[in-house]
Amino acid sequence: MNKLCQIAGLGICVPERVLSNHDLEQIMDTNEEWIVSRTGIHTRRILDASQGTSDVGFFAAQKAILDAGIDASEITHIFVATCTPDYLSPSVSCLIAARLGLSAYSGVSTISPTTKSLMCLDFNAACSGFVYGLEVARAFLALDSNAVVLLIAAEALSRRMNYNDRSTSVLFGDGAGAVVLRSKGDSFLTVHDVSCGTDGDLNELIQIGGGTNMNVVVGDTVKEDFFLNMQGRDVFKHAVRCMVQESLKLLSRNNLTIDDVDLFIPHQANARIIEAVGSRLEIPAEKVFTNVSEYGNTSAASILLALDDARKAGKVEAGKKTLITTFGAGLTWGSALLS
Ligand code: UT7
Repeated sequence: MNKLCQIAGLGICVPERVLSNHDLEQIMDTNEEWIVSRTGIHTRRILDASQGTSDVGFFAAQKAILDAGIDASEITHIFVATCTPDYLSPSVSCLIAARLGLSAYSGVSTISPTTKSLMCLDFNAACSGFVYGLEVARAFLALDSNAVVLLIAAEALSRRMNYNDRSTSVLFGDGAGAVVLRSKGDSFLTVHDVSCGTDGDLNELIQIGGGTNMNVVVGDTVKEDFFLNMQGRDVFKHAVRCMVQESLKLLSRNNLTIDDVDLFIPHQANARIIEAVGSRLEIPAEKVFTNVSEYGNTSAASILLALDDARKAGKVEAGKKTLITTFGAGLTWGSALLS
């Protein structure tokens, strides 16, 4: 199997502030029973007004670097998967590079052949960002076997929640995860295969405003299309279909069946989607990992928050097969096989 891409370190960061279902009951017409029965979510973590996506991304990155036992200066690429960046420009990856002390490389007066290279790149695959990022990282590691990739998935979805829209705003939370990826040295997991899909025709099912499609002038107030808008019922159906089909495709091309999977970590969108995907794949419930109850849907960060919890619970081991799968705006989706 392909050993080009190995996970050497993992770290996560969630904001301290907890937003409970009871808190939501105070600001909208909802109730604990509806939220829990329809979504399985009890709490989410929400950034303070003074914090942004790069803050949680940075702290997750620091932990991943420590976990990998490397010095930050060894990193050659920083990739950030996010659909909620601090700014349209500059990128979150550049902001995090500066906080990691890596911007010194751009401050040298003379660039010589020995000056260390560092590439910083953000990309937006919405909730599918981490799986897409694994595929991007695999390509760069294939180009350069000495590359050390810091892949961060960080989101601040609370910044785009319309709390007048009760069916969507109860679902999302903030957080970040990061991994150090390389093709040499110690690691605790190997990324064996990744498969990604897209259907841009369905882009209107989930949209977040604030981009250049909005012709905003100074003094305008933001309207509902500035926030995350989602057609929940349609998204539910496509999410289940895409995650199931992509996972089966990935297993099949690796000559595996669902029985070979030791641990299944689907995108933590909501408990009913997770149950539906698990049941269609016919994977035993005890192999399905979920922490959506605690964090809600953290978009690109969700699989890393779950992988970190699963690892701490002793469920992630080298040699055991972990299947991850995800789905998000775009539409985008993807699955990856780790062991
Ligand atoms: O990364 C992908 C992320 N996307 C998702 O996870 C979304 C997938 N979709 C879903 O999980 C579900 O569609 C939702 C949880 C978003 C909504 O559940 P639903 O069973 O599809 O509910 P609905 O929107 O059809 O609404 C059913 C009822 C409505 O009341 P009426 O018209 O039947 O009287 C809503 O007004 O539930 C009502 N409702 C609520 N009631 C209390 C909707 N939101 C709430 C709420 N509290 N927060």
